[in-house]
Amino acid sequence: MYKVLVTYDMFREGFTELEERYEVTFPEGRDFTVEEVWEMIPEYDVLCSMFDFPVNKELIDHATNLKLVSNYAVGYNNIDVAYALSKGLTVTNTPGPVTAPTADIALGLMLDAARRITECDRKLRTLGKRMKVGVLENLGVPLTGKTLGIIGMGRIGKALAKRAAACGMEVIYHNRHQLYIDEETRLNVEYVSKEDLLARADFVSLNAPLTPETRHIIGESELRQMKPTAILINTARGPLVDERALVNALREGIIHGAGLDVFEFGDYPLPELLELDNVVLCPHIGTQTLETRIEMARAVSNNVIGFFENDRPITRVLHP
Ligand code: GLV
Repeated sequence: MYKVLVTYDMFREGFTELEERYEVTFPEGRDFTVEEVWEMIPEYDVLCSMFDFPVNKELIDHATNLKLVSNYAVGYNNIDVAYALSKGLTVTNTPGPVTAPTADIALGLMLDAARRITECDRKLRTLGKRMKVGVLENLGVPLTGKTLGIIGMGRIGKALAKRAAACGMEVIYHNRHQLYIDEETRLNVEYVSKEDLLARADFVSLNAPLTPETRHIIGESELRQMKPTAILINTARGPLVDERALVNALREGIIHGAGLDVFEFGDYPLPELLELDNVVLCPHIGTQTLETRIEMARAVSNNVIGFFENDRPITRVLHP
């Protein structure tokens, strides 16, 4: 019987079929540490990793029985995919269930940063009746009639484009590859260069994977190319943005605002961001709903079962 090691503590609901078929090891009440996984992995055929669990060359070499890495995430920057593939391993991810919830959070951050929802909430709580209110106070910007620039037009980018269209926004995008015309027409989106996107967009949303090419895709020079009224949204991976340059841009009014669900240096933002009213911060909650957690577990399980039994499609990562 195949042996499956799950590195993270998770609701079992999505894993029922997996547990019925194979010998599955879960941690109890906390995630397994890297050291614990290192000890156990030589015995296992499958590693089910969380998006922040490092599956590097050393671990892959040490995992002598390993056949499959089934990642609990759409992103796979935690895995040395090139090395895993070169060693004959299969790598899978979970694009399906994460698409809508991540697009929801991107739209939520756009609305929040534009209309200053969290800022007003915070001021009401901390200032009470000392908060200035009135028809000319706390002015925001609307979404309707504005241009959204999406960098990374994969599933999440497309889902966000649909939401933006429902809000009356024009959508332009930049991507490694241009979409086919029928899809562009259906989504009513226009392909532009990165420079054009930065110059034209009122909102810039990052929806690209983290790769060596996309690291700091928004840095000091890109921030300066954006409109001073623009709002930057990042629900992808923190290192897409040079966070120190962003602090400066938000402080100096180089851009108007930002909404971040991910940070460059781990789980928490740079402390300087906490001081600023023109940024909305979330601790990587893009897929944080009960339903999504269970659906992602089902996707991880389906990838393992489909890999061994060939009885269902799996979502393979084909290149780094
Ligand atoms: C979440 O960040 C994911 O990659 O699915």
